[in-house]
Amino acid sequence: MKISKKIFGVLSSGKKAYLYILKAGDMSLSVTNFGAHWVSLFAPSRNGRKDDILLGYSTLDGYTRNKPYLGATIGRFGNRIGDGRFSLDGTEYRLYKNDGPHSLHGGRRGFDKLLWKAESYEERGGVFVRFELVSPDGDEGYPGTLKAAVSYGLTKSNEIIADYQAAVDAPCPVNLTNHAYFNLAGEGAGDILFHRARLYASSYAAVDESLIPTGALTPVQDTPFDFRTAKPISRDLAAAGGGYDHCFVVDGDSGTLRPCAEVSDPRSGRIMRVFTTQPGLQFYTGNFLDGVTGKAGSVYGKHAGFCLETQHFPDSPNRKEFPPAIFGPDRDYHEKALFSFDWQ
Ligand code: GLA
Repeated sequence: MKISKKIFGVLSSGKKAYLYILKAGDMSLSVTNFGAHWVSLFAPSRNGRKDDILLGYSTLDGYTRNKPYLGATIGRFGNRIGDGRFSLDGTEYRLYKNDGPHSLHGGRRGFDKLLWKAESYEERGGVFVRFELVSPDGDEGYPGTLKAAVSYGLTKSNEIIADYQAAVDAPCPVNLTNHAYFNLAGEGAGDILFHRARLYASSYAAVDESLIPTGALTPVQDTPFDFRTAKPISRDLAAAGGGYDHCFVVDGDSGTLRPCAEVSDPRSGRIMRVFTTQPGLQFYTGNFLDGVTGKAGSVYGKHAGFCLETQHFPDSPNRKEFPPAIFGPDRDYHEKALFSFDWQ
């Protein structure tokens, strides 16, 4: 196992951002403290060929203008808050609307655009980086001073462990996640539609045309959203409206780390299994990727990658029927995710 650190670039503020390269098992993961982004993930194929399976950019500059949130850590609230507002105890809070009428992924300057404090360490058969930041009261319209601590690590058994914690001194919606886009054939190697996906979800949150949940949790049975048995992502894509961008309700008890997804690439033999403590999983097939210039000349078109964002349900602050995503002085936020890799 090995941890190395180098300067990734200098921000317009003059502050330096660092790249941490974690090596363990057969893989290597690099992350930066700018936006706590996952930058690269090298994994072997069944023939021993190492490819970078994360969409991203070669330089820090790309991450400062990262419209699709490639690899970003998202906060204070992942996905959409309808109409950019919510009420708590009779007070209405207004957020920045960066997605038509809605607020998306924390607003104008979410956690993906902040420089985090970072510290690397070795522990429990893995190498980790712990990122911390303080989001002041009123930041992006959210109440309370929030302290976030997110750690990402790579283990000797080829797993990424993600741990998300936040403490906030006033009631506030919190929904942290990572927005990594994977292509198990290698970033830049075409689209992911031939990957096979299995999702451990018997229902999903139905959405309106602006992707805000209607409140209905619809059974997947007899719909294009049924991934309970593995199938190629392409199979029912057209019937699903040309792409997936939906929050699936993960089977089993939230609060316990349980399987939520398994995706495999038949060509390279790479398999990724995802586990989460969260109630939901946003399965997104890169529908809005429109020719983004990525690493070393790669261009990411529609479906060039897929995301599995472990999270609370979108727009939870406005949906009393959804699992509560309000945290505060009496309720700290703590969620975990695990991504395990194999190649056969
Ligand atoms: C999430 C959303 C998508 C899109 C991406 C970012 O996955 O659900 O609709 O906004 O983030 O491009």
